[in-house]
Amino acid sequence: MKNNANLEHVISKIGDLPAMPEAVGEVLRLTDDPQVGMVRVSEAIQQDPALTAKILKVSNSPYYGMKQYVGTLKLALVILGVREVRNIVLGVSVFDALHNDRTETLLTGQFWTHSFTVAGLAKQLGLRLHLGLQGEDFISGLLHDIGKMVMCRQLGGQYETVFRASGGSSDALCAAERDAFGFNHAEAGAALALYWNLPETLADSLWLHHAQADADLSEARDPKLASLIRVANRAAHDGITTGAEYSCSACGEESAWKFLDPQGTMPGIEQRSEFLSQFGEVFSVSTPMH
Ligand SMILES: [Fe+2]
Ligand SMILES: [Fe+2]
Repeated sequence: MKNNANLEHVISKIGDLPAMPEAVGEVLRLTDDPQVGMVRVSEAIQQDPALTAKILKVSNSPYYGMKQYVGTLKLALVILGVREVRNIVLGVSVFDALHNDRTETLLTGQFWTHSFTVAGLAKQLGLRLHLGLQGEDFISGLLHDIGKMVMCRQLGGQYETVFRASGGSSDALCAAERDAFGFNHAEAGAALALYWNLPETLADSLWLHHAQADADLSEARDPKLASLIRVANRAAHDGITTGAEYSCSACGEESAWKFLDPQGTMPGIEQRSEFLSQFGEVFSVSTPMH
């Protein structure tokens, strides 16, 4: 990420961020090491019973489409794989660490539904576009808006005013955040990811999920992942409905489609709109966080 220095500046303006949850650091460390087996990972997670329970809840959510009930952590690791469970740990722990009374009041069910919709869309689109991602799609989608939690938590009432005035979503919010605080929630999310040493490809996809005049998708360490999250977020805001006409602003994200469809098989709005309309069912799935 070329703008690490900028993000460090953002961190200094945000104020004291919560420490990274211990379980995340341990699980990231263990799952990065190919010598470490499933048993060690399982033991590390089981040190935290609340985390274990949440992993099982997410594993059994419709997003994973399990044919059987996943009743134990061992089974989750076998069926979903270490990589996927690592991502669930990351998602659950990050939300838990940032959550407080303020975020609870401001970021209601809509925030969760949107986060899970973007995660589900990113996963489905990534598979269909053969991007070769291994779960980074789902977790990046899930965490793409955590900057809103960070700003809400750290900036309190001032942020709440800006958030409510802009209607709480997308481009208007980004502009209002920049005006009021000098940075937006995309930068705040990436700053937190940097501060917690989360994977850099994930941090980049948070940073670039909204189009910004001073940042380009080609600056991401994984431009395909960053492009995917950009389009999935846009499509979630568009509100795809299966088989129906919908206004497809996601289809116009030219710089992202360049990475997602390098062969140019979907050169126009019409083809992209038809492609995206196949994923409308993602919207009907309920979120396991609420
Ligand atoms: Fe956003
Ligand atoms: Fe979003």
